[in-house]
Amino acid sequence: MTILHIDSSINGENSASRVITSAIVDKLKQSNWGESVIYRDLVANPIPHLTLDAFAANLDLEEFLAADTIVIGAPMYNFTLPTQLKAWIDRIVVAGTTFHYTENGPEGLAKGKRVIVALTRGGIYSEGSPASSLEHLETYLRGVFNFIGIEPEFVTAEGLSIGPEQREEAIGLAIGETVRLAA
Ligand SMILES: Cc1cc2nc3c(=O)[nH]c(=O)nc-3n(C[C@H](O)[C@H](O)[C@H](O)COP(=O)(O)O)c2cc1C
Repeated sequence: MTILHIDSSINGENSASRVITSAIVDKLKQSNWGESVIYRDLVANPIPHLTLDAFAANLDLEEFLAADTIVIGAPMYNFTLPTQLKAWIDRIVVAGTTFHYTENGPEGLAKGKRVIVALTRGGIYSEGSPASSLEHLETYLRGVFNFIGIEPEFVTAEGLSIGPEQREEAIGLAIGETVRLAA
């Protein structure tokens, strides 16, 4: 079993999503969800914007296809995902490999993989909150992974910019959820 661990926060050691992905991967390893872990830091080693040439030799796609579980750190930047993470997604959504069109519409071909997203937001965007219509991170990631045949799981820490206490509590709760993920 292989885990692909992806981080996309620009906040280095102060990143909330990096702390949470690292806790998730540790817990999965302890519970034998994966012997080998491949780590991709999309900020230290960014993937260039998509071009036709880049599509031809797509190492990121091979890495994704070889992984059983993918753990993704996804901070909200300007209401959606970091462009570094979008560049990675652009490499794994590939017609004929991770989805295809049928008479009945599109069908995902990446079924059977587990995707766990550590989602972090400075504000509050939960259903019913005033800013919920600006939530384009979780909705986008759910949509794109559903499109390729995967139902992603989310561990969310939000309200992180409200204050240090709220931040600590939200991160603590998210890390607590790793027990459930590894069960
Ligand atoms: C460039 C940038 C843009 C941000 N945009 C938003 C935003 O639109 N909504 C929000 O709730 N928080 C926003 N934030 C706050 C982050 O979502 C929050 O700090 C979160 O902890 C980021 O995760 P990280 O610490 O892993 O980078 C932004 C932060 C940065 C650095």
